[in-house]
Amino acid sequence: MYIKNLKIKDFRNYEVLDLEFNEKVNIIIGSNAQGKTNLMESIYISSFGRSFRTSRDTDMIRFGQDMSKVKMSFNKDRGDVDIEILLSKDHKKSIKVDGVRIKKTSQLLDNVYIVIFSPDDLKIIKDEPEKRRKFIDKELCQIKPSYYSNLSDYKKVLLERNTYLKEVNVDPDMMDIWDMQLAKYGAAIMNHRKAFIDKISDISREIHEGITNNKEILSIKYDPNIKYSDDLKEQEEIFYDILKKSFENDLRMRTTTKGPHKDDLEFFIKTGDNEINARNFGSQGQQRTAALSLKLAEIDIIKKETGEYPILLLDDVLSELDLERQEYLIKTLSFNQLFITAAEMQPKLIEQFSGATLYKVSSGKVEKQL
Ligand SMILES: Nc1ncnc2c1ncn2[C@@H]1O[C@H](COP(=O)(O)OP(=O)(O)O)[C@@H](O)[C@H]1O
Ligand SMILES: [Mg+2]
Repeated sequence: MYIKNLKIKDFRNYEVLDLEFNEKVNIIIGSNAQGKTNLMESIYISSFGRSFRTSRDTDMIRFGQDMSKVKMSFNKDRGDVDIEILLSKDHKKSIKVDGVRIKKTSQLLDNVYIVIFSPDDLKIIKDEPEKRRKFIDKELCQIKPSYYSNLSDYKKVLLERNTYLKEVNVDPDMMDIWDMQLAKYGAAIMNHRKAFIDKISDISREIHEGITNNKEILSIKYDPNIKYSDDLKEQEEIFYDILKKSFENDLRMRTTTKGPHKDDLEFFIKTGDNEINARNFGSQGQQRTAALSLKLAEIDIIKKETGEYPILLLDDVLSELDLERQEYLIKTLSFNQLFITAAEMQPKLIEQFSGATLYKVSSGKVEKQL
């Protein structure tokens, strides 16, 4: 599985672009604000149907234009797949797979796994809980399609419940329709999250030991907003009871105050006999190393769960790491195909990727280096 070709028309600062990619390693070099992240974004949107840095699709249309087109061709075992995304100021977004328009982005690409790693990811430990929930959800959606539908059902019911709580006259008996559904979907979400976090904690611990030369032991723990039970039925009952008990409070706050939409992750680092909560007491260096371990574990877990390494987009992260961590990263990275962007890269590091193709980006123009 790899990306063969990318064609762009009026996307961000690119007017036109037609690029062939190396099936293993693509190194994209360019100064600040030349279009490196924009290029990663165009690959990402062709895979997920949306951006990783904006929720407004029209932001991606080149300034002064009304439409934007991105076409990507993928090589998969069963043959090539063409994806075409059309963004327009006046019409709904159109996504076509092999020329046929699809209705849901979930139909876009099954069996294609993509991981993007950007400098912001190194902040995940310090970030607000929502970022950590998004991390878990994004991963689980990729490896467990049933999680995706479960999560969208949960969000839909939650929105309905919250909308109703904002009405002038709220009838407590009406709440039951939402409470039952929320409890059912919520219990399944919590169950999946717990299993996923336990797995990623084990993998991250090993990686973290490698990066810190066995000096630190990392553990990642699920921090559920409500009491957790491994038993799905019991979990459903717990959540249902909590929804009933918190009704008065929910009504006062005009929103659903309890449930997995408030879940979080906790990171603990042990050195010797001393264990600390990394968010509150870790140094910036410890927090970034833990985030790096988590990110690398994400790659391994995709391989374990799906049998395939992902396509990896490393957007400007090398410069965020010291030389030792850069080398560790390059040495241990596993992927199906790699896109790596940087303002500059030491020839010594480039040499580690034999057979890589090098590109130079400048003001929305990309040149392949021969
Ligand atoms: N919709 C858009 N149309 C045209 N240019 C844009 C658009 N969105 C962002 N840009 C420009 O893209 C540049 C940033 O590109 P980016 O890929 O983020 O840079 P970098 O190479 O640093 O990753 C900026 O100059 C910005 O003005
Ligand atoms: Mg960038």
